[in-house]
Amino acid sequence: MSRILTFNIFRYNPQDPGTPPRMDRFMLDETDRMTLFIALNRIREEQDPSLMFDFCCRAGICGACGMVINGRPGLACHTKTKDLPETITLMPLPAFKLVGDLSVDTGTWFREMYQKVESWVHTSKEFDPAALEERMDNGLAEEIYELERCIECGCCVAACGTALIRPDFLGAVGLNRIARFILDPRDERTDKEYFEIVGNDQGIFGCMGLLGCEDVCPKGLPLQDQLGMLRRKMAFTALKSLVGKHKHAHK
Ligand code: SF4
Ligand code: SF4
Ligand code: FES
Repeated sequence: MSRILTFNIFRYNPQDPGTPPRMDRFMLDETDRMTLFIALNRIREEQDPSLMFDFCCRAGICGACGMVINGRPGLACHTKTKDLPETITLMPLPAFKLVGDLSVDTGTWFREMYQKVESWVHTSKEFDPAALEERMDNGLAEEIYELERCIECGCCVAACGTALIRPDFLGAVGLNRIARFILDPRDERTDKEYFEIVGNDQGIFGCMGLLGCEDVCPKGLPLQDQLGMLRRKMAFTALKSLVGKHKHAHK
């Protein structure tokens, strides 16, 4: 027998600050292979056309549908109702600007993070359109590709205690981005230059290492390995510069 699901959904429209935030309740009969994408669309079509939420791809690719599902950040399009209890509570992802109800603006956060980590290959080589493609070792290219699979859903940021209290924290996703450029032989940045970006409390030293980020990443990115690598590398760079200063002072 099919279940009757109860949805408790956060409602607030920042454009209408006179109406305080509230939780709205909707009931829906569960259908075969129902996802939260299907459920939310049915609620909007059949019960409340003003409900705001985001979806683009419905296939776990665009990252638009991140929300907090019964207390845990995840992708709504990839979440089947059969894996959830009868009562489902949906909240918008924290740490991002609320657009309305379940819809948040992750784009501004990600753009600022990419600017902070200077998310492009830094090279002094002039671009020569006639030059042959530079070969990269297959294994290394795959390692880099593995870290490129992020879909910018924001779940790791929403699950991170540091990101929730420090809006300037780069988050596991920003630190993962830096790890990707450290791996890339075309990026000519030195350890010291990387240290200037991530060797502080906005970066790797703000991370408490509890790994909420990796637990919720829907793409299974190896965030833990990258955080560990950066922590070791940045601690080593700090130590080297301390030893350098100490030697200098005793000359
Ligand atoms: S391990 Fe670091 S980045 Fe990941 S959730 Fe914890 S504090 Fe945030
Ligand atoms: S690292 Fe994972 S959880 Fe974080 S934004 Fe990328 S895909 Fe989403
Ligand atoms: S709608 Fe694109 S990831 Fe869910």
